[in-house]
Amino acid sequence: MDSIIYLDHAATSWPKPPEVLEAMKQAMESAAANPGRGSHRMAVNASRVLYQTRRTLATLFKVNNPNDIALTGNTTEALNLAIKGYLAEGDHVIATMIEHNSVRRPLEYLKRTRGIQVDYISVDAYGQIDLKEVERSFNKRTKLVVCSHSSNLLGSILPVKEIGELAVRYGAVLLVDAAQSAGMLSIDVNDMNIGMLAFPGHKGLMGPQGTGGLYISPNLDLEPLMHGGTGSQSEAIEQPTVRPDRYEAGTPNTIGYAGLQAAVEKVLELKTDNIYSHEWELTQRMIEGLSSIRGIKILGPKLGQPRTGIVSFVVEERDASELAFKLDREYGIAVRAGFHCTPLAHMAVGTENTGAVRASVGVWTSKEDVDLMVEAMAKIQA
Ligand code: ALA
Repeated sequence: MDSIIYLDHAATSWPKPPEVLEAMKQAMESAAANPGRGSHRMAVNASRVLYQTRRTLATLFKVNNPNDIALTGNTTEALNLAIKGYLAEGDHVIATMIEHNSVRRPLEYLKRTRGIQVDYISVDAYGQIDLKEVERSFNKRTKLVVCSHSSNLLGSILPVKEIGELAVRYGAVLLVDAAQSAGMLSIDVNDMNIGMLAFPGHKGLMGPQGTGGLYISPNLDLEPLMHGGTGSQSEAIEQPTVRPDRYEAGTPNTIGYAGLQAAVEKVLELKTDNIYSHEWELTQRMIEGLSSIRGIKILGPKLGQPRTGIVSFVVEERDASELAFKLDREYGIAVRAGFHCTPLAHMAVGTENTGAVRASVGVWTSKEDVDLMVEAMAKIQA
């Protein structure tokens, strides 16, 4: 696609590195059989793709045993596996107001069906939580703390390690939603006390859609989300207990994971710290530019504060969706407007009735892209 200024990386990164396209093409040519379901060469090649993908992801997230990573179709599937597989009748959960619907909806579903209880920790105008409020929320039945590493509306970054320390101290497990941080922030599951880590393949990791995963600590045993064929222990009625088969029923997206493998190699080569710095500088430039335009209010952390590559804003007396439409049709700029599947975060910052426009940068975004976005908004507001 030509002449698009793509500022929708928080939804899906684009374009993908050429290595990703090449890896997917190669896999389609030589590893497109069913992994784990046969001993012929093509099936073995397919198994190797999955093995290597898991191993590269384990390197990125400092996971000791790659088999503790279940490959999923997206973050939502990973979060559903974590939440529904772990929680039992009457459990208590601590979550936050910046959670995406992929956390909130499974939790609300379990409130109805398993009688779980959930406390949503408030966030301030900058998208931050108060760790004291987190600590006050634990009770004897608290089994799980779920938090987004970074808000998909505000770009704020939560203190995952400190939250993890609290979870460990109170005998609970920390589930981190890394939808907006994987590939942009360094993640070490052991150092950060992460019991489960749900991540997308298609955002910061730069892989294709239809890929994601869940790291599950070896100390946890989740009920599988899906039951079915795994290619292993075919005579058994029960789902195998061996990982990763226990959590991966059905034919997987081998071609997609081949792309993800190449993408994560690229992230490892570029290094998350460099990616973060690049994206942070672009957000600062965008905030400075947009702040000087009449009627624009930026959401999230103040200028100079840490944030992932997300800049959301509201414009006085303008409809967010109309603005996004105008940016696309008249200026060739792709952003996402509306409520971003995170109504509580909008409530926390007072945009529950208006929604917001979200511009989000990625590895390939340039200063010129940011300047064109600012210029377009200046013209619209002139
Ligand atoms: N969760 C993705 C977003 O925030 C799709 O846009």
